[in-house]
Amino acid sequence: MKLVYRGKTKDVYECDANSLRLVFTDRVTKNDAGEIDPGGNNLAEETVPDQGKACLLMSSAIFSEINEKKIAPTHMISYDLDALSMQVRKAKMFTPGLEWVARWVCTGSFMRRYKMVPGVADGLRLPNPVFEITLKDDAAGDPPIVPSALVALGIVSKKNMDALLGLNEAVMQAIHGMFAARGLDLWDIKIEWGLDQDGNPLLIDEVSPGCCRAFKAGTRERVSGLELAEKFRR
Ligand SMILES: Nc1ncnc2c1ncn2[C@@H]1O[C@H](COP(=O)(O)OP(=O)(O)OP(=O)(O)O)[C@@H](O)[C@H]1O
Ligand SMILES: [Mg+2]
Repeated sequence: MKLVYRGKTKDVYECDANSLRLVFTDRVTKNDAGEIDPGGNNLAEETVPDQGKACLLMSSAIFSEINEKKIAPTHMISYDLDALSMQVRKAKMFTPGLEWVARWVCTGSFMRRYKMVPGVADGLRLPNPVFEITLKDDAAGDPPIVPSALVALGIVSKKNMDALLGLNEAVMQAIHGMFAARGLDLWDIKIEWGLDQDGNPLLIDEVSPGCCRAFKAGTRERVSGLELAEKFRR
């Protein structure tokens, strides 16, 4: 198998023309302040033991539930917890890549961006979930972009944008519900979408502790890594 891409946290191998193998590692990202941060764009020098296992465990469980409930098509074909790998359908990616973010509580880059707004503070619960899209560009700090700009710039077709907005919201609400059902308060999360061989939206990448912030319900006690993933073990 050929290594086609070494991402910040995963290694990507090509299996055949239509499928990839994602290998989850213990590498983690940090933000510009040097803190380990799922939204961070820099690779941390240190690794977190069992982070790869945690990310695969949770991703495979969430993709399975999304598949079973027919909420959206996902790229997962199979997974192997011992090999730390997931076999996936190869997606056609948007150029540049996009990150789809949902927020229920004000924190991270959202808080920094809107700190001039009266009352904005870390941990402020938002009265409605906020859905954002950012361009994947580490050097530019992943700038937010609105759906009409994505269509106007030819990054996403109008037809796909309409479908993606609905699918993304449905998936995000479903994920939030999966956390709540496990006594977890999900503050924010980022996911990725691509297009399948027929050009239709496909949920890709991972849904894992490396992409979200979650707390024990009713507390300010952050749940991370394996502890979070174990809640999703099937
Ligand atoms: N089904 C898929 N088809 C094609 N590419 C995929 C698929 N699923 C995930 N990817 C890509 O594989 C790569 C995985 O690497 P990794 O998660 O380490 O991310 P990265 O490139 O460092 O970026 P970031 O961590 O900022 O999302 C990402 O570029 C992701 O977009
Ligand atoms: Mg990634």
